[in-house]
Amino acid sequence: MVSSAARTFDLVIAANRLPVDRSVSPDGTVTWRTSPGGLVTAMESVMHEREAAWVGWAGFPGEAPDPFDDGLLRLHPVGLTAEDVTDFYEGFSNDTLWPLYHDVIVPPTYHRSWWHAYRRVNEKFTEAVAEVAAEGATVWVHDYQLQLVPAMLRDRRPDLRIGWFNHIPFPPVELFAQLPWRAMLLRGLLGADFLGFQRPDDARNFLRGCRSVLGASVKGDVVTWQGADDGRLGAGRRVARAGSVPISIDAEGFRKLADSPGVRARATEIRASLGNPEVVLLGVDRLDYTKGIRHRLRAIEELLADGEIAPPQVTFVQVATPSRERVEAYRTLREQIEATVGRINGDFSHLGDTAVHYLHQSYGREEMAALFKVADVMLVTPLRDGMNLVAKEYVTARHDGGGALVLSEFTGAAEEMRSAYLCNPHDIAGLKETILRAIRDDPALKRRRMASLRRRVRRHDVQTWAEAFLTALDAAPGKPAVRKEVSS
Ligand code: ADP
Ligand code: F6P
Repeated sequence: MVSSAARTFDLVIAANRLPVDRSVSPDGTVTWRTSPGGLVTAMESVMHEREAAWVGWAGFPGEAPDPFDDGLLRLHPVGLTAEDVTDFYEGFSNDTLWPLYHDVIVPPTYHRSWWHAYRRVNEKFTEAVAEVAAEGATVWVHDYQLQLVPAMLRDRRPDLRIGWFNHIPFPPVELFAQLPWRAMLLRGLLGADFLGFQRPDDARNFLRGCRSVLGASVKGDVVTWQGADDGRLGAGRRVARAGSVPISIDAEGFRKLADSPGVRARATEIRASLGNPEVVLLGVDRLDYTKGIRHRLRAIEELLADGEIAPPQVTFVQVATPSRERVEAYRTLREQIEATVGRINGDFSHLGDTAVHYLHQSYGREEMAALFKVADVMLVTPLRDGMNLVAKEYVTARHDGGGALVLSEFTGAAEEMRSAYLCNPHDIAGLKETILRAIRDDPALKRRRMASLRRRVRRHDVQTWAEAFLTALDAAPGKPAVRKEVSS
């Protein structure tokens, strides 16, 4: 990576995080690591061969590093102060919007000071985008952290074509209406020409919100808002289109990685280090209350107590990636999960035979692929998830034909991956039965299910997603002539 001077771009990405996160070790050594989350996984594979700028936070409080190049991509850091991190990132983004947009699994917190920080930081991003966007450029804004950027940017740069994609669910208006700043958020979003969502229901929720909160008129998937000339955000008439464009993974790249000799060898090594069990169950999630890890552990504990599974024949590996560790709901969750794992292992492990292997760590892509190859049954059981790319990575890594995917109905992935073992994670008895079916079903049936899932992911990969989004943005508020992937 090399530093370089200011320049403008025809394509600009704005996301809360840059694709890389800067970390400083106690001895002062600076390292850049891949940022966490599905957004970066997907966008990194789409963007690495394109000439574009990516505006985002470098993951630490303080002044922004100078812009630098990573291949063809210009990384343009936005500086967040310690107060911004607390009030914008941990506060409004992850303690107000995140729980509200995920079915209020934990209660959202509403603080006016956090809202002020959200506006302030969205202004910072707007300024940074305006600086690097060429005349008439396309700007692709991402996710719930930046919902005011589309209108802020349009007010400043009417020449731009602006799209927004939401990686997480968009809540029904009955929940969205709780938000004291609901009208301003919708006014912010309506600065975009095209708004992309993971599921048709998310797009519908947004359109219903515009009608009920702003009194906008909605015809099909196009929303027209006459504007409120009150001198505040996004004044003036707006016409925008909303549609569903489900995100995916770099299927071919991930298949190749999973098939590489290094990953195969590592998979054999991992299996041996687990004691070569007959069945390896695996969960891989950010340590987040949306992921349903507690419900999953409850099901595993009951299956062990019922004598349906037992180490060393069956073992469960749970990778729980550290996430948002200063937000209280995440700390509480970590304590609960670690106490539960301790209890289960105390009750059901024997010397040398562990019932639950718990890993609170981040890994490289190779290690993730090797873990997927080892998993006979993958447990993806979120209570609510925008998409869940882990499900798509798993089926892609099991190119050998083995494996089985247990998938929550409450993920975006479940809309597409109908051949998975679908489950309701709230129904512990049903979840236990589904896990047992995924373990015990006829191998030929399981192979057919996995082949159908792999086909689906291969045909709807991340490149198809990006093209569908950009084509829809180009044509908005009209529809693209050929509409293969976008549906409202
Ligand atoms: P989310 O965006 O909510 O974190 P996704 O399942 O959509 O959930 O995406 C998670 C991404 O992070 C996937 O690409 C997955 O492989 C990766 N990932 C998850 N856990 C780890 C980990 N412990 N180490 C490295 N990568 C991880
Ligand atoms: O993919 C969903 C997502 O929430 C991204 O928006 C977010 O960047 C990522 O997961 C990880 O969360 P965080 O950036 O808070 O570490």
